[in-house]
Amino acid sequence: MRVKYSDLKNKRVFITGGGSGIGASIVEHFCEQGSEVYFVDIDLKETKKLLNKIKKNKFRSPTFSECNLLDINKLEKTIKNIITKKGPIHVLVNNAANDDRHTTDQVDEKYWENRMAVNLKHYFFAAKAVVKSMMKMNAGSIVNLSSVSWMLGEGDKVVYETAKSAVVGLTRSFAQEYGKYNIRTNSVVPGSIATERQIKHWLTPKYKKLILDSQALKRQLKPNDVAQMVMFLASDQSSGCTKQSFIVDGGIT
Ligand SMILES: NC(=O)c1ccc[n+]([C@@H]2O[C@H](COP(=O)([O-])OP(=O)(O)OC[C@H]3O[C@@H](n4cnc5c(N)ncnc54)[C@H](O)[C@@H]3O)[C@@H](O)[C@H]2O)c1
Repeated sequence: MRVKYSDLKNKRVFITGGGSGIGASIVEHFCEQGSEVYFVDIDLKETKKLLNKIKKNKFRSPTFSECNLLDINKLEKTIKNIITKKGPIHVLVNNAANDDRHTTDQVDEKYWENRMAVNLKHYFFAAKAVVKSMMKMNAGSIVNLSSVSWMLGEGDKVVYETAKSAVVGLTRSFAQEYGKYNIRTNSVVPGSIATERQIKHWLTPKYKKLILDSQALKRQLKPNDVAQMVMFLASDQSSGCTKQSFIVDGGIT
C-alpha cells in the first residue's frame, strides 16, 4: 500500500480518460484507496487491460462507461445518472486530452474546434455537471490536468498548448466562484511522463536525453508521480489548497 488517505475511502470519484496513461494510474490509485470510482474513455482495449490489473491486485472495482467526451450531452447524462442513482460526486478528475503534434499552418477552423473540444470543452462541462451535487455537501475537489508544454512554449502543438493554458484559467475562475461552497479546484501540471503513448510516439532516446538534461531530477517521471499528487489534492490533507497549479515535472520548468 502506498500512502493511505483514510478520507478517500468510499468517496465517489469521476475520472475522464481513465482507460490508459496517467488516467489509468489515477483510477488505480483511487481503487487502491477504496474509493467508489467511475471513469469514462473510448479505448476499450486499454480499459480492459486496466480492469484486469485492478482485479488482479484485489483493489476495489471501478465502474467504466464508454463515452466520447466530444459528445457533451452523453458526458452530462453519464454524470447525472451516477448522481441520481448513487449520490453526489466528491471528486472530479478532468484528465482526458490528446497532444497530437501540429503546426500553425496545418490548423484550419475545424481542427481548432476539434482540439479545443478534446482538450478543454469537456473539462468545463464535467465540472458544471458535478458542482451542484458538491454544493449540497458543502464539499468537493476538482482536479484539472494541464501541462508544462504551454509554459515552455514547445512550439509543436499550438492549439493543445493554448487549451492547456486555458485549463489553468478555468481552474482559477471555478475555484473563486465555488470556493464559498468549500469546493476546491486545482490544476496538476505534468512535465514529461512516460505513458505508453509517449513511449510509442515521442520518447525517442534523443528526446529522452533532452528531457533528462533539462530536468533537475535525472529520472524519467511515470504516471504514478502524477497520480500521487492527484490523491493529495483529492483528499482532505490538502484542505487549504485551491485555485493553484501543482507542477509535477522533475524540475524542467
Ligand atoms: N504524458 C505526458 O507526458 C503529459 C505531459 C503533460 C500533460 N499531460 C496531461 O495529462 C493528461 C493525461 O495524459 P496522458 O499522457 O495520460 O494521455 P494518454 O493519451 O496516454 O491518455 C489519455 C486517455 O484519454 C482518453 N481519451 C482521449 N480522447 C478521448 C475522448 N474524446 N473521449 C474519451 N476519452 C478520451 C484516451 O483514450 C486515453 O485513455 C492529459 O490531460 C495531458 O494533457 C500528459
